[in-house]
Amino acid sequence: MNIAVLISGTGSNLKAIIDNINNGFLDVGLKVVIANCDAPGIQYAENAIIINKKGLTHKEHDRKVLEILEPYNIDLVCLAGYTQIIQEEMIERYTIINIHPSLLPSFKGGLHAQRDALNYGVKVTGCTVHFVENDVDTGPIIYQKAVPVYDTDDLKTLSKRILVQEHIIYSKVIYLLSKYKYKIVNRKVMFYE
Ligand code: GRF
Repeated sequence: MNIAVLISGTGSNLKAIIDNINNGFLDVGLKVVIANCDAPGIQYAENAIIINKKGLTHKEHDRKVLEILEPYNIDLVCLAGYTQIIQEEMIERYTIINIHPSLLPSFKGGLHAQRDALNYGVKVTGCTVHFVENDVDTGPIIYQKAVPVYDTDDLKTLSKRILVQEHIIYSKVIYLLSKYKYKIVNRKVMFYE
């Protein structure tokens, strides 16, 4: 399976995927990494391309991403801390997954899921990997992991605890998608051999 990873930030999820390719857990080819800004995470990838989003509409930006992806025969596009909303053309062309730092549908949308969970006072939050569809953070859920919230938590400690699980479940999902078939029935994603 050929994958592409799209990032905008520190790239720790990208790094976890690369580590899992290098240690043999993931039998996939990371063909290209695309960042929509000067993301620190590109340091982890030999094959990173920056398409600066400044001055481009989302549609124009996506077109450039599509042009870059085209020659690589990509089977799966993984959004890993990618801050841009993907447009319809790209969603129609590729299977796309995203990781979100909450138990969806709680605390969806925006970039503050961990802070929103803290402010709400939930005792459990977590992370979700889901398929990307036209609306933000609403696609069928592939995998979730719960993470406790402690009274002593601040944004840093909670985000870190969630991130540890993100690194595990994102690769797990890529593994499942690379090894098994799946079907989606009434939003439920089910894997089978
Ligand atoms: C992660 O918390 C991810 O869930 C969210 O953005 C953050 C990206 O972290 N979408 P990193 O760039 O992978 O370190």
